Amino acid sequence: MESQNRGGFATNFGFLMAAIGSAVGLGNLWGFPYKMGANGGFAFLLVYLILAIFVGLAVMLGEMALGRKTGQGCVGAYAAMGKKFKWVGVCGVVAGFFILCFYMVLGGMVLRYVCGYLLAMFGSNNFGDPATFFGRFITNGGSMLIWFFVFTLLNVLVIAGGVAEGIEKFNKIAMPALFFLLLIVLIYVACQPGAGEGYKFMFSWNVKPLQEDFLKVVKTAAGQMFFSLSLGMSVMITYGSYLSKKEDLEKDALIVVVSDTLIAIMAGMVVLPACAAFGLEYGAGPGLLFSTMQVVFASMGGFIGNFIGFLFYLLVFLAAMSSSISVLEGVTAYFVDKNLKEGKGGETGGRKKACIIAAVVIFVVGSLVALDGLGGGIEGGALINSPAQMLGIEAQGWSDCWLDFFDMLSEGILMPLGSMMLAIFIGYVWKTDTIMDECEASGHKAWGHGFFKFCYKITTPIGMLIVLYGQITSFFG
Ligand code: PHE
Repeated sequence: MESQNRGGFATNFGFLMAAIGSAVGLGNLWGFPYKMGANGGFAFLLVYLILAIFVGLAVMLGEMALGRKTGQGCVGAYAAMGKKFKWVGVCGVVAGFFILCFYMVLGGMVLRYVCGYLLAMFGSNNFGDPATFFGRFITNGGSMLIWFFVFTLLNVLVIAGGVAEGIEKFNKIAMPALFFLLLIVLIYVACQPGAGEGYKFMFSWNVKPLQEDFLKVVKTAAGQMFFSLSLGMSVMITYGSYLSKKEDLEKDALIVVVSDTLIAIMAGMVVLPACAAFGLEYGAGPGLLFSTMQVVFASMGGFIGNFIGFLFYLLVFLAAMSSSISVLEGVTAYFVDKNLKEGKGGETGGRKKACIIAAVVIFVVGSLVALDGLGGGIEGGALINSPAQMLGIEAQGWSDCWLDFFDMLSEGILMPLGSMMLAIFIGYVWKTDTIMDECEASGHKAWGHGFFKFCYKITTPIGMLIVLYGQITSFFG
């Protein structure tokens, strides 16, 4: 039920590009390779695939269907199912806000690398020593804030344009571009001597890591899967609410899950073989995207190293933008829906004003993330301290830097909680037919009755419980 004022996607292709754009992000290009690197390669991939099929796909379909059925953003959609469900929608929007407080900072950092490699291609080395650049950059508060600001501004410009004219147009260009850039970089890496070890690590049968620490691999893969698919937030519900009744929801959900997984695997096929070829560690952890890859591009050397570096960070930038846009849209849609209901905000429900105000608040709160040197604190040369340093407590997963603090609130608690509740509501309160009927509103016969019923009743609630448990123990354990 798209009303004219809320806006809607003009084409199913546009919807798909936007939904895939949301799913494909830093999670795929950064999180997936480094977590795979630290969790046994193939074993991680195997668990990830099983979870994406039996847990992720059903939640994806559930969110899209809930949005389209109610024609509302996240809060409105849950409220439309009954007043007592509304709080779950609120969790989604609040989680979106917290995610953006760090995601936009990271997006700004990526943008710095894009511009840096562009300049370097024309002979202006602005990175200095690649091995130490990252450390200097993150403690330079002024620079971090400026790039954060520019990234946030770019997001606002797209969202203010509207659903079809802003979000859809951006993604229709950005997503195919991202795919081709990734393909070029992948082929280049494949031609490097020594890359083969990386593929072997990813694809040759090896379940030993599962025998050694089953829970760790499952927990990490589960958390990664659900973050990567943009679940448990306002996003897929909101995008679903902009989709025409004609479209086949099951097919769309499947396409999004498959594409997201494919891009994550392709990212692994860039980062891990590149590390293998240049003798760098797979398990470097979060530093992989920024510092390790920079060393890789420096080792490629000269113009070609800078050129491949530019292409790589450009595609990471496009991925980050299309994800952050979707989250900011989820938050914006909440205010737009509210305004329209109250007859405020004119034709578009005050879209521009809503997204500007949201962005300003995100920028102010997110500055904490930009200024603590990712946890190094004042002693490490940054402008402010991490939460643990401020409180004078021993640093834990949630308190070692402001980024992790906001990550804990969103990815750690609110998102998995929301998704678990959704799975339980669909399986046991609203019943699976609520979703399947919405799928059939397009006039297609749904093919997934049996499969989705099984998922909603059994695998999805259990899977989400594992995610929630895994997240809480990893932040507080
Ligand atoms: N899925 C995105 C990624 O992989 C992140 C994201 C999470 C976007 C939640 C929207 C909602 O980076």
